[in-house]
Amino acid sequence: MNSKDVRNSFLEFFRKKDHTIVPSSSVVPFNDPTLLFTNAGMNQFKDVFLGTGTRDYSRAADTQKCIRAGGKHNDLEEVGMDGYHHTFFEMLGNWSFGDYYKKEAIKWAWELLTDVWKLPKDKLWVTVFETDEEAFTIWSDETDIDKSHILRFGEKDNFWEMGDTGPCGPCSEIHFDFTENGCKPEDVNSGHEEVIEIWNLVFIQYNRKNDGELEPLPKKHVDTGMGFERIVRVLQNKKSNYDTDVFTPLISKITGITGKDYSGENISSINAIADHIRSLVFAISDGAVPSNEGRGYVLRRILRRASRLARKLDYNGPILFQLVDTLVDNCGGVFPELTDKKDFCKMVIKSEEESFHVTLDRGIKLFNDVADTLTGTKIFPGDEAFKLYDTFGFPLDLTEVMAKERGLKVDLLKFAEDMEKQKERGKSGRKDLTAGTVKAEESYGKFDTVYDPYSITSEGVETFSLIPEKETSKNIIVLGRNPFFSESGGQISDTGSLVRNGGQQIRVLDSKKDFIVVENIPADLSPDEKVTAKIDFERRNAIQRNHSATHIVHEALKRVLGSHVKQLGSLVADEYLRFDFPHFSKPDNDQLNEIEDMVNSKIAENLDVITHIDIPVSEANKIPNVKKFFGDKYGEKVRVVVIDESFSAEFCGGTHVMNTQNIGLFRITKEESIASGTRRIFARTGEGIIHFLGEKISELEKIISELPEKYAGSFRTGLTNFRNDVSKSDFLNAERMRSLLKYQDKTHSELTDLKEKYSIEKKAAEKELLKQRLKIFSDKLDQLILTADKEKGFDILSVRMDMESMDELKESGEEMRKKIKNGVGLIASVMNDKINIVCSVSDNLIREKGLNAGKIISAVAKELGGGGGGKPHLASAGAKDTVSLDRVLKEFPGMIKGLIK
Ligand code: ALA
Repeated sequence: MNSKDVRNSFLEFFRKKDHTIVPSSSVVPFNDPTLLFTNAGMNQFKDVFLGTGTRDYSRAADTQKCIRAGGKHNDLEEVGMDGYHHTFFEMLGNWSFGDYYKKEAIKWAWELLTDVWKLPKDKLWVTVFETDEEAFTIWSDETDIDKSHILRFGEKDNFWEMGDTGPCGPCSEIHFDFTENGCKPEDVNSGHEEVIEIWNLVFIQYNRKNDGELEPLPKKHVDTGMGFERIVRVLQNKKSNYDTDVFTPLISKITGITGKDYSGENISSINAIADHIRSLVFAISDGAVPSNEGRGYVLRRILRRASRLARKLDYNGPILFQLVDTLVDNCGGVFPELTDKKDFCKMVIKSEEESFHVTLDRGIKLFNDVADTLTGTKIFPGDEAFKLYDTFGFPLDLTEVMAKERGLKVDLLKFAEDMEKQKERGKSGRKDLTAGTVKAEESYGKFDTVYDPYSITSEGVETFSLIPEKETSKNIIVLGRNPFFSESGGQISDTGSLVRNGGQQIRVLDSKKDFIVVENIPADLSPDEKVTAKIDFERRNAIQRNHSATHIVHEALKRVLGSHVKQLGSLVADEYLRFDFPHFSKPDNDQLNEIEDMVNSKIAENLDVITHIDIPVSEANKIPNVKKFFGDKYGEKVRVVVIDESFSAEFCGGTHVMNTQNIGLFRITKEESIASGTRRIFARTGEGIIHFLGEKISELEKIISELPEKYAGSFRTGLTNFRNDVSKSDFLNAERMRSLLKYQDKTHSELTDLKEKYSIEKKAAEKELLKQRLKIFSDKLDQLILTADKEKGFDILSVRMDMESMDELKESGEEMRKKIKNGVGLIASVMNDKINIVCSVSDNLIREKGLNAGKIISAVAKELGGGGGGKPHLASAGAKDTVSLDRVLKEFPGMIKGLIK
């Protein structure tokens, strides 16, 4: 039976027993913060067991994608060491929700194993919870199992729990004995390689609460789980799960790529790689991505472990992404999401592998540098391990493995100490940052105020104001009714004013829901005075434009770049919006244009932005494709903002425009990477675009000011008119805004071209000028040589000639060397109050008299408070003492004569 047949026959068996066959739920759990990954088939039915949810059926069966690589059930380190532990596996399961119980569960399991699959009965062993007489009796009376094969175990083995909290109950496990001569009772549950659990029947009847108490559930249920890869191995009679057709295609692909045999030491590495790629592809297909925290970090660790094992096989490049096709060919039929996400998985995995290889290479070098210097110790210093970890992102477990390879042990105590210190530093840094906020909350507590930033008008609201007794210096005022939006969900706080009876205004700088912060509190403001609270309406409108645009661009990003896009962070301000999301490559210009166009065409549809308030979370969850953020805690009732039902629905406590036409135009102004796999865009809307254009015009004016008139002239007037046009334009007129942006873009590109052209021209002109100056210098040199000091027929020349550039001085030196065929020359030039000198010596003097330009110039420079050197024929130096320059030049011939003697 191949593995597909095994899966099908399990499901078929239970379908015939009136079970509804359900799809596997996502391996990335939705809405269960207690779980990193789906770790058992029953996860998707947790609510039914707890009595908080129902289904249309009372019996179900499926194959469930599971990952056990973190949390309560974690097999990561086991993987590769034996033939039956996996990070990712399929769990075949059948369930009864208050329907059948122990008797049917046990009898059917026995029927499937021994009757349908014909497993030898003497190879099967079962265990029951030590006090579960009922299960014991069913096994012994209702099946024909050898009674000596029914064993009792305690809580550790026979009481199954989903996690620290949640549904649980006693269980009965079925084990298979692979040994040739039959195992002994004590081999069961002993970790024996050849006696392994294949199926667990759990009789769910309790809920483990937060305080550890067991609470009986309203009904009794059955939850079973059979390891798919293990039962395939049993039915295919293989020595290891990795020898079944679930893994063999992956294994031959790995041996093909690495050119290594599947034998000896290689086996465990190859097995682990084959295992790990499955976790990665299944998790990424369901929306997780490698990152630095939570489940993303678990994925990163899995990937890094696999990468490192590939290096053990002498394969030093990205390998995992090359396995994706093989896996998808094998499983895409059963799990269509793999086929849909194939290319995306490859991209994510490859980019993560590449960046890890960079980390590895750097870390390995550093590790070796340190390890090479160690003598007489078997300890690798903990602070170095911490440096590797902290500065170079090199995982501690890898440092440990590498240390072990050299017979060293990492000083973990010191490592932990440094880690602790760093955490403390982090903490104290944060404390400073929020000290003000904490203080305010501590000293003012909660106030009796109605926070309502939603129903505002430009006239403002009449309300009483109150100055809290403590610390008036903090400029805090409590309003009976606070209309100022207080920063949350990325939307910044409102500002505005309080208007007193006589018209006096108090500026409002910030809002914290329960109170507001003002610029100053007038001395005569009486407690409980009536004021009108007015928010800065224009600013609020600008913020709202950006907020609604954020919802639209979120959806557009998803549609253009892929459904993995989600909001990792956002800032909604009056001038611009900022949005962070996961994506593994730089979106190209076409994609950015497509996103921008999609947003603008949504805006142009004049859609009403509808905010549903006070919807129960359970209802809100049912809205198709509704976006919510796991980090946020939502109360029982939520607000949901909808922009075109088929386009965007989002849980959101912020404020929005009434209709998309109030947004004007949307423009992405910048796109960048902020961390590995995380992108950030900045965008503007409405009046923000006018301001954006203003800034751009200033940039253009600066370019113009640096251009010569022949280029600048035609642009200058055009740009002045353009600035005028922009400031007079209606920012809600999207067409108009679009054409202004277009003009700006065009001008920008023309001017940048000109700037480039001009800079090339300028360089050419400078070169020409240099040539001319050199010609003049050369003529002058001829003159100077005629009048030079001629001692014993040698020319000795020393002269000050100020040059325009170092290039010129260098060229002049070369020229001087060419011209003085029999002698020594020195030119000094003063530029920006600094002296630069070159000296040349003709070849015959080097040969016959042992003169050396390098030595000569260093002596001269020393006289002038500087230094330098060079070759025997040509050398240069720098110096500072301009006052002595004339004297030193005058003494130069004398000095040379001295040397020649
Ligand atoms: N939920 C049970 C397990 O995971 C079946 O073993």
